[in-house]
Amino acid sequence: MLRGALLQISESDSVRSAVVKAPMSRAVVARYVAGETVPEAVGSAAELQTTHRMTTIDHLGEDVTDRAQAEHTRDVYVALLDALAEQDLAADGRAEVSVKLSAVGQAIPGDGDAMALEHAREICAAAQRLGTTVTIDMEDHTTTDRTLEAVRALRADFPWVGAVLQSYLHRTEADCRDLAHEGSRIRLCKGAYKEPESVAYQDGTDVDLSYVRCLKVLMAGQGYPMVATHDPRLVEIGSALAKHHDRSADSYEFQMLYGVRDLEQKRIADRGHQMRVYLPFGEDWYGYLVRRLAERPANVRFFLRSLATR
Ligand code: FDA
Repeated sequence: MLRGALLQISESDSVRSAVVKAPMSRAVVARYVAGETVPEAVGSAAELQTTHRMTTIDHLGEDVTDRAQAEHTRDVYVALLDALAEQDLAADGRAEVSVKLSAVGQAIPGDGDAMALEHAREICAAAQRLGTTVTIDMEDHTTTDRTLEAVRALRADFPWVGAVLQSYLHRTEADCRDLAHEGSRIRLCKGAYKEPESVAYQDGTDVDLSYVRCLKVLMAGQGYPMVATHDPRLVEIGSALAKHHDRSADSYEFQMLYGVRDLEQKRIADRGHQMRVYLPFGEDWYGYLVRRLAERPANVRFFLRSLATR
């Protein structure tokens, strides 16, 4: 209930403005966001590689309604990929990028889908040139079909493009079946948006059970599952399923968010699994931060205090 309420009030412009200006917010942001600039993001990726953690880097920003902003985001991604390659961090997909289609134009009325696809294509071309990959993030359920359609179109030229599926959606087990084919990189997460009962499980246990069903399909299939969760039980189940299906260590990976369960990330990497950290950077951190706070009631204290200290 708290999660839903937080996601709801976060949509208010006055709440956004209060939180963004509050000094307390900065401390909370620093926990989850790896700086504002490309060099800061590259520095964090380099640091994580010293403990055998790969990265997928996200330039923060979503629901862009301005064409120039969408083009700017594309340019930042291309500059980021070049900077990663210069530091020899991108080869073999060790550092890749995650892209939200709404950050590169999907939400722009009229030709938004086509624009987002074109921008994503340019980012994929840069990634291919530098020997790394791109994963297309999944946003709220109103965009699921269009996003999967864009992934299909991108895969025609870049078969390694990753997709994200959310276990809270009723449809996801069927999507897993469709997408568990050879070469298909699928990140499975629980889902971070406020979704209606008509499309999504509302109860945490149902979301977890769905996650396990989806994971079974992905691990039994021919694709490349990316197990994105901090939930210790699901990490164990992912590991057991990989073993059960005789998967080699390079045929799946675990993923967690920057700033969440850091020691566990290192432990998973030390156990010989591939571990990738989702590393967000940029100035437009508000939407991302609210979703992280909503996932953990203890964090809400910081959120409320940041409003009170204004
Ligand atoms: P759950 O929320 O049940 O958390 C399990 C445990 O992890 C908690 O008890 C706590 O210990 C710890 N934990 C979780 N979140 C925390 C936090 N914010 N701060 C501190 N501790 C925390 N979603 C989406 O809709 N579209 C997407 O494209 C992506 N992409 C994505 C990539 C990667 C790599 C990850 C790890 C996650 C996403 N997500 C996402 C977010 C995902 O949907 C989900 O909201 C979060 O991962 C939280 O769910 P958990 O599976 O971790 O379980």
